[in-house]
Amino acid sequence: MNPAPLISSSMRVIILGSAAGGGLPQWNCGCRNCQEARLSGTGRTQSSVAVSADGARWVLLNASPDLRVQVASRPELWPRGARGTPISAAVCTDGEIDHTLGLLLLREATTKLAVYAPLGVAGLLDREWPLFRILSAYAGLEPRTLPDGQAIALADAAGKKLGIACTAVPVARRPPRYARQAAAGTYDVGLRLTDERTGGTLAYVPAAGAVDDAVRSIAAGAGLLLFDGTFWSDDELAEAGGTDAPSAREMGHLPVGGPEGSMQLLPRAGAQRTVLVHINNTNPMLGRSSAERAEVEAAGLQVGEDGMEFEL
Ligand code: MLT
Ligand code: MN
Ligand code: ZN
Repeated sequence: MNPAPLISSSMRVIILGSAAGGGLPQWNCGCRNCQEARLSGTGRTQSSVAVSADGARWVLLNASPDLRVQVASRPELWPRGARGTPISAAVCTDGEIDHTLGLLLLREATTKLAVYAPLGVAGLLDREWPLFRILSAYAGLEPRTLPDGQAIALADAAGKKLGIACTAVPVARRPPRYARQAAAGTYDVGLRLTDERTGGTLAYVPAAGAVDDAVRSIAAGAGLLLFDGTFWSDDELAEAGGTDAPSAREMGHLPVGGPEGSMQLLPRAGAQRTVLVHINNTNPMLGRSSAERAEVEAAGLQVGEDGMEFEL
C-alpha cells in the first residue's frame, strides 16, 4: 500500500464554528432555535475557520470563545508530540469579542503565535480590549499588521511561510460596541486567501454590511465564499425579545432575507460556491425544514455547519 501523501494536494478549509456571538444555544436566549438546541442536545459553536495549504500547519481565521472545544474536536489541530500545536498563525477579521477571545485560551502556548490583524483591530487589541498586552505575560503573540488591499504571504512566528497569500479588504461595518468612539480606521475586513501552489482561493467575509465592490473583489473567482449569515431580517433581535435591540444593519450585518438582502446579491458576487457562516441563534434559516432554509437553498446558497470541510 502506498503511504499517505505528506503534502495534501489542495487547500483545506474547516468551519470550526458556524454561529455568531453567543453561539447556539445562547445562555440567556429562550428563542425557538435555542430551546430546540437545548432539548435536542445539538448546537453550534462560535465563528471560526481553520485553513491549511499543506494539511499539517493550520491558520485560524478568528479565534472564538469556543476555541478549546473546537480544537479538541478536530484531530488536525491536536498536538503532534508531548507539547506543541499545528496552529501556526491566526488572522482576525475584526476585533469583536466572539472573534478574538479565543486568543486568551491559547495562553498555555510555549512559543509565540503569529497574529495578523488590520491596523484598527491591532490598536483595539493593544488598548480597549488589551489581549496583546495581557498575553505578553505568557508565551505572547507576535502581532502583524494586515495591510489594506495588498497580498502578503502568511508565515508562522519563526517566519516560515505557510503557503497561503492573504489579502485583507476593508468591508462596510463599524468598530465593536466596546469601542464606538474609536478613531477612523480599518476595523473589519474580508479575506482573500490563495494557495500559493495551486491558486485555490477562499473568500472569507464573516461580517459585512453590504455586498458591494469590496466584497465582490474578495469573492471574484473564489472556489468558496464564506459570508455573513448573521440575521435573516433587520428587526430580528427586537422580535426575539430584546425590545431595545439594535437592527441588523445598525450592527453592520446585511440581512440574508428581504428584497435587498444578501440572498439576492450573493449569487452574482463571483464565487463558485457560497456558504453562510456567523449565523445568529435567532435566524429562522437555522430550522432545517423552515421556509427560510428552502429559500436560501433555492437561491443556490448553503447554510454552514460546524465541522463542514472543503478542498479548494
Ligand atoms: C457582531 O458580529 O456584530 C458582534 O460580534 C456582536 C457582539 O457579539 O457584540
Ligand atoms: Mn460577531
Ligand atoms: Zn436564541
